[in-house]
Amino acid sequence: MASQRKAYRASILHCIADPKDVGLDNCYEFFEDGLIVIEDGYIVDIGESNKLMKMLSTRIPIQEYENKLITSGFIDTHIHYPQIGIIASYGEQLLDWLENYTFPEEMRFSDPQYARDKANLFFQQLMNNGTTTALVFGTIHKQSVDIFFEEAHKRRLRMIAGKVLMDQNAPPELTDTPESAYQDSKALIEKWHNKDRLLYAVTPRFAPTSSPQQLKMAGKLLKEFPDVYMHTHLSENLKEIDWVKALFPERAGYLDVYDHYGLLHKRSVFAHGVHLSEHECQRLAQTHSSVAFCPTSNLFLGSGLFNLSKLESHQVRVGMGTDVGAGTSFSLLQTMNEAYKIMQLQQEKLHPLKSLYLATLGGAKALHLEDKIGNLKVGKEADFVVLDLHATSLFTMRMKQAKTLEERLFVLMMLGDERNIHQTYIMGEKAFQTGSIGD
Ligand code: GUN
Ligand code: ZN
Repeated sequence: MASQRKAYRASILHCIADPKDVGLDNCYEFFEDGLIVIEDGYIVDIGESNKLMKMLSTRIPIQEYENKLITSGFIDTHIHYPQIGIIASYGEQLLDWLENYTFPEEMRFSDPQYARDKANLFFQQLMNNGTTTALVFGTIHKQSVDIFFEEAHKRRLRMIAGKVLMDQNAPPELTDTPESAYQDSKALIEKWHNKDRLLYAVTPRFAPTSSPQQLKMAGKLLKEFPDVYMHTHLSENLKEIDWVKALFPERAGYLDVYDHYGLLHKRSVFAHGVHLSEHECQRLAQTHSSVAFCPTSNLFLGSGLFNLSKLESHQVRVGMGTDVGAGTSFSLLQTMNEAYKIMQLQQEKLHPLKSLYLATLGGAKALHLEDKIGNLKVGKEADFVVLDLHATSLFTMRMKQAKTLEERLFVLMMLGDERNIHQTYIMGEKAFQTGSIGD
């Protein structure tokens, strides 16, 4: 098939570096009247439209937008697809929330039809919210992940996922064994890892639900398949941390449990890290591990205030996570809103450009995928979102009063959600449009 170029004209904003490394003025590119050109799913040009239009063949279709802002697709570095059915469950903190809501719901994923229905709903939510890549927990059931990857593959999505490992401190219906966990994970890696845009993550739920034998087995898998990810939870809640210390008294702390079994490496992503010591931050940095900042979840479960500055002072890579179903929104815009408030409670300001960075290029760096996704540079995969800055009359009024790009961006983050997602593109193809079925 002859390759077909397509162009999109709107305001375009994307992050090109971390503001902490290059300063706010140099961390982004903005084209007030911009154009991106896509060919075969990749970005082949980006810039001011008046410059690029002169060089484009007249036969290339150009989609023009008014009052829209194109940016790179959002990246969710921590989310649970089987928890969509228990989002917004009342009254508990982490350990009781797991027992009362999460485990009963995850048991239902033994039914493949239930898993497929929920996977479809999950992808619909991601597309509605402009999220184009996610690092995703499945359930203990091998099939839940097989189905997830099948559905992601049909949609050509860049997704990372894994089968949950749990062989203790969980209901019997939700436990595996070190051996079955090894065999199932290995089979899934061989089937899905690096298939098209899909990647695998070895996924022990958290230290309390894996025996030393199972953690050792997870380390063995990482040695055998060094380019797969490791995805787990870490230091989210004070009772959880005390429990880990009681279960593993011979270890120096929570992170040291994972470290001891060889689970810290370049592609390790730890969700939360709300209560980390200086030494733990240092160790995360040394091993090139990443942390997912999950503001809506940390507030919803009353887990604590994430210390972004502390992690960044140690040069730990940080991405944004929604952590649905403990998180209360699929929207990375809403997640940025809550992140801002978490920083306010610590007397710090989270600049809107920094937030955008964390939800795009920062997420890509946390997943070591910055050569493929995270911004709209030439050569990257064309996953992008068309944002509507005038989604409601409140936005129209407030945007009129905003004087700068930063101010408009901040308003979008504080007030915005899925109403502001006009379209979502995957590999240059439209995957969602406002007003369509599934909206
Ligand atoms: N810790 C262990 N499992 C979970 C989970 O499903 N969600 C959250 N937020 N924390 C966890
Ligand atoms: Zn989680």
